[in-house]
Amino acid sequence: MQTKIEKIDSSSALAVKIIEPHEDQHLDFLSFREKLSYANISHPEKKKEWATARLAIYDALEALQVPYPGFFKDEHGKSQSMNGQGFVSLTHTPGFAGAIFHREQPVGIDMDLIREKILAIGFRFLDRSELDFLEKDPAHYTMAWSAKESIFKCQGKRGVSFRDNILLEPFDNKAEKIKGKIRGTDFADHYYTVEVRRLQNVILTYTTW
Ligand SMILES: CC(C)(COP(=O)(O)OP(=O)(O)OC[C@H]1O[C@@H](n2cnc3c(N)ncnc32)[C@H](O)[C@@H]1OP(=O)(O)O)[C@@H](O)C(=O)NCCC(=O)NCCS
Repeated sequence: MQTKIEKIDSSSALAVKIIEPHEDQHLDFLSFREKLSYANISHPEKKKEWATARLAIYDALEALQVPYPGFFKDEHGKSQSMNGQGFVSLTHTPGFAGAIFHREQPVGIDMDLIREKILAIGFRFLDRSELDFLEKDPAHYTMAWSAKESIFKCQGKRGVSFRDNILLEPFDNKAEKIKGKIRGTDFADHYYTVEVRRLQNVILTYTTW
């Protein structure tokens, strides 16, 4: 399985994998609870996405020499480490799955396929000021969407609106970093720097608290 592993620093690493058919025995490292969750996914594509994201986190942990602790979903849907140590975030999009781990800080990762139709739904997730600086370019809109997803996943709580509570500073469609903040919630005025990568027709973003 093709994998790209990036050790970001001594505390954090990410891995991105191409989704391919895999043998279930490669998932032996999963906890009992995770094996049950996996068994309960009926849709074959979703099953592959779920499994590949777990294989990605396994690889990211290996890059940091951290044993796989097992993860569970909290009440907001965010994965938490079963031994209470470290922070994880997972993502999948058609063809790819990815994961990031940080020893000390919450993290968020997201991958999205660039699709033309995102231009038509900009008003649902973008503030007026963001609509003003973004070009009518699906890649530029996808960067904004994905940056908001990464920020959302890093903070982890439901009830944060992409349009009303996550505001991005202007950036161009070649940007490798996007600055954004959460406003109007309990986390008001928390600032994030989102890293941006492009892999073929997919935008990858990630951020640390
Ligand atoms: C839940 C949500 C973060 C999932 O993102 P997505 O782009 O659809 O899917 P991804 O594959 O990138 O990410 C899925 C992973 O997000 C993680 N996730 C789910 N809820 C989460 C949360 N509250 N915090 C952090 N991570 C979360 C899960 O690990 C999930 O993977 P898994 O099911 O394999 O465990 C997203 O759909 C969402 O709810 N966003 C907020 C709602 C919103 O405001 N939407 C926009 C309105 S216009």
